[in-house]
Amino acid sequence: MAAEITCERARKIYGRGAAAFEAVNSASFSVEKGEFVSLLGPSGCGKSTLMMMIGGLEAISGGTILAAGTPITEPRPEIGIVFQDPTLLPWKTAMQHCATRRWWTGTLEVFRDPTCRLCWS
Ligand SMILES: Nc1ncnc2c1ncn2[C@@H]1O[C@H](COP(=O)(O)OP(=O)(O)OP(=O)(O)O)[C@@H](O)[C@H]1O
Ligand SMILES: [Mg+2]
Repeated sequence: MAAEITCERARKIYGRGAAAFEAVNSASFSVEKGEFVSLLGPSGCGKSTLMMMIGGLEAISGGTILAAGTPITEPRPEIGIVFQDPTLLPWKTAMQHCATRRWWTGTLEVFRDPTCRLCWS
């Protein structure tokens, strides 16, 4: 069975010509269903860029990114992103931010797990 998320030599180049800048170079990994994965690295190493590509919010410049075996070419309802500080509600936890969109779209049952009880408390 295909992994939940698969990155194969995923690459991102911002800009063109002399202004081209390679933000992500050949990222390859897979995430299985239920796995909790963190991307760690110094500021500017490409973490957000990679997340945006996995979320379908940035086009990839090379390689492939798959969700359950299907190329990600646009945002998908089953993939959510909690952005950084300026767009967050300070009184909510990260999990509650995830749940907010689920609440709006009526799919909060995805979070009916004892470890996620803060979502609706
Ligand atoms: N839209 C853009 N156009 C040009 N360069 C960009 C763009 N977005 C990001 N970059 C550059 O790509 C590189 C990776 O940026 P990115 O935001 O992915 O890093 P990051 O690892 O998430 O950093 P941080 O830990 O500070 O959030 C940086 O050098 C950044 O300046
Ligand atoms: Mg970032």
